[in-house]
Amino acid sequence: MPIGSDIPRIDGLDKLQGTTQYVDDLQIDGVWHGATIRSPAARGRITGIHFDPSINWDEFVVVDHRDIPGPNEVIFIEKEEPALAASEVRHRHEPVLLIAHPSISALRRARQAIRVDIDPLPAVFDPRQPLTPETIQYGDDNVFKRIDIRKGDPQPVFEAAAHIIEGEYETGSQEHVYIETQGMIAHRENGQLVIRGSMQCPYYVLKSLEHFFSRPPEAFRVIQTPIGGGFGGKEDYPSILAIHAALLAEKAGAPVKIVYDRTEDMAATTKRHPSWVRHRTAVDNDGRLLAMEIDVLLDGGAYVTLSPVVLSRAVIHAAGPYNCDHIHIHGEVRLTNTPPNGAFRGFGAPQTQFATERHMSVIAAELGIDPVELRRKNLLRTGQTTATEQVMRDKVSLPALMDRGLELTDYAKRQKQFARENAEHPYLRRGIGFATFYHGAGFTGSGETVLASEVWVEGLPDGRFMVLTANTDMGQGTITILTQIAAEALGVNEQEVIIATPDTSRVPNSGPTVASRTAMVVGRLVERACGDLAERAGAKGAGGAALQEAVRDWHSGNPNQRLLGKAKHQTPKGLKWDEDTYRGDAYAAFAWATYVATVEVDLRTYGVRVTDFVALQEVGKVVHPTLARGQIAGGVVQAIGWALTEEVVMEDGAMANSQMTNYIIPASGDLPPIRVYFEEQPSQFGPGGAKGIGELPMDGPAPAIINAVCDALGVQINTIPLTPERLMTILDGTNNEH
Ligand code: MTE
Ligand code: MOS
Repeated sequence: MPIGSDIPRIDGLDKLQGTTQYVDDLQIDGVWHGATIRSPAARGRITGIHFDPSINWDEFVVVDHRDIPGPNEVIFIEKEEPALAASEVRHRHEPVLLIAHPSISALRRARQAIRVDIDPLPAVFDPRQPLTPETIQYGDDNVFKRIDIRKGDPQPVFEAAAHIIEGEYETGSQEHVYIETQGMIAHRENGQLVIRGSMQCPYYVLKSLEHFFSRPPEAFRVIQTPIGGGFGGKEDYPSILAIHAALLAEKAGAPVKIVYDRTEDMAATTKRHPSWVRHRTAVDNDGRLLAMEIDVLLDGGAYVTLSPVVLSRAVIHAAGPYNCDHIHIHGEVRLTNTPPNGAFRGFGAPQTQFATERHMSVIAAELGIDPVELRRKNLLRTGQTTATEQVMRDKVSLPALMDRGLELTDYAKRQKQFARENAEHPYLRRGIGFATFYHGAGFTGSGETVLASEVWVEGLPDGRFMVLTANTDMGQGTITILTQIAAEALGVNEQEVIIATPDTSRVPNSGPTVASRTAMVVGRLVERACGDLAERAGAKGAGGAALQEAVRDWHSGNPNQRLLGKAKHQTPKGLKWDEDTYRGDAYAAFAWATYVATVEVDLRTYGVRVTDFVALQEVGKVVHPTLARGQIAGGVVQAIGWALTEEVVMEDGAMANSQMTNYIIPASGDLPPIRVYFEEQPSQFGPGGAKGIGELPMDGPAPAIINAVCDALGVQINTIPLTPERLMTILDGTNNEH
């Protein structure tokens, strides 16, 4: 059976051999190269643009806001971000001008020869900074979005509680560092404006182009080229890049390619939202959670972009996988004058679950209870409800999942052993820590209903099948797992299935490739479209050779016609969500996990090394064990970086360390063995019982690692990244942190 087996990765050989053609590899006749001239200031009025007269500007195409044919608005959630600044800028690196030239070296010289003059205005760099009338730039308080989740009535519970425990937790920004930087090519072909590039969501790009150019969808064709990693960073930004490439191509009357170099990509594109989360928790003497008050603040950057939905996932996950009857969660995402923050694996959930999982350990320490016991008392059980009052219908047993995770690391024994050894060692301190957490699969609330995704499966004249979706493979394995799901549903082997390239002129809109939704939501649609295809071929319920025969027969009887099976998303029965009160079924399904980290701290260097890592999760059915392990291991690595080394240093509202030499991601030598385990509890919602797994591994490692460091050192640390400098400051008790 294809589902659950390790079929060879379909795009694997090309990538291994280096023959995959990424956007920058495409050779297009007569192509011009494009570049972006950006704001040097965080906020201000544009007073002039100076072109160095030593350059012959007649050779160049120059585009500014006056060349924009429709509304100067890039559509995400709101229509407020301009594609090119007109009179004011709100962040450094904000695009002001575009230039193009056939020669890339001429373009590079010209780029240095344009100066944008700005008359500065007061800027905001910290969302906690008190506002003055001069710094208000959005609404009347710079708050892009506020969300409240209320369950029960915490107030009287706090008044009567035996213990109230408070804590404040802070997480830093993070750069995606996908291997392939952002890139896009635009050109005219058969009367259409064709856009090719590295993007997670071709239909988002199409929608932005339609709005921006005020043209119908048929005026454009958006084609995804192979993606060298996205991690959320290619969810929204490609819309801006597509608009830029299109503007230049239209004015130049030639194909235009824009590919960012690493520094520009790091400095100008989106990052993870920095967060500040405050917890106030009422507990009884046994450690039972009686009431939780959680205050979440995210730094949105200069424009709204996707921030409201990041906040939404952040607050929904903020109470963790725990049972508590009285909860109030308040979330805000506010404007600052930095490049907009955006989607990054986990989409807000890693930030709030870092706080929750640290806070659980803080509560345990304050009450003198074992953190394992504290969690055992409070982990959600079947029939109980989350903060949004979603009833846990899943049969997963979280305490058993936690116990198994701890067993796999010999937690109790190691903890004692480390305590003994630490007392004797002159400078090494070892510790072990864990986190219990969850991640909702698919769009939040009624999101999937609104998306109304559609998938087609075509029966080809030769008896093979083509799966048509808009979902992209950015390394996580879409091409391979959709092949498996279709092969299983059609009863054929994988060689009989082809996955169409996401191209808006050919594939239906099956929604964006985000929110860990592809396997569960799109996979289910593929399964259903296969069923529909068999029916249309007159072979309802048939599979394998019989179905292939029926498809060939159908084509003999219907020459030159297409045999398409179709499926459209239907909201699963029994799921309800109220967007106004934030109550109900936030997600069709959750994946659950326990991660355990072992660390070693060197008191001579203040360096923290993760020496062992166990990642145990329940993800429904595992579709492809090797790819699934890769998803988990890759996410853990990314989260180790976020926890310990990846520090985005901001200066005057932009990243000062936008190079891989000074923005430090973990290299293989920095990594522990990552031991990945799955429990399978097939879900009713996904194909073969699969749930989403792509983002889950980003949520747990940071709190598990910091809990381990706290175990090693006997202190409470509440801020990441825990760089050696920060740890030195904490341990030396000095207060000169920048
Ligand atoms: N894995 C790889 N190799 N490359 C990526 O860019 N993106 C992550 C995750 N895993 C990513 C990845 C993010 S942010 C998401 S939302 C999911 O994959 C999306 O894919 P899925 O819907 O197939 O889970
Ligand atoms: Mo993922 S952050 O939803 O692209």
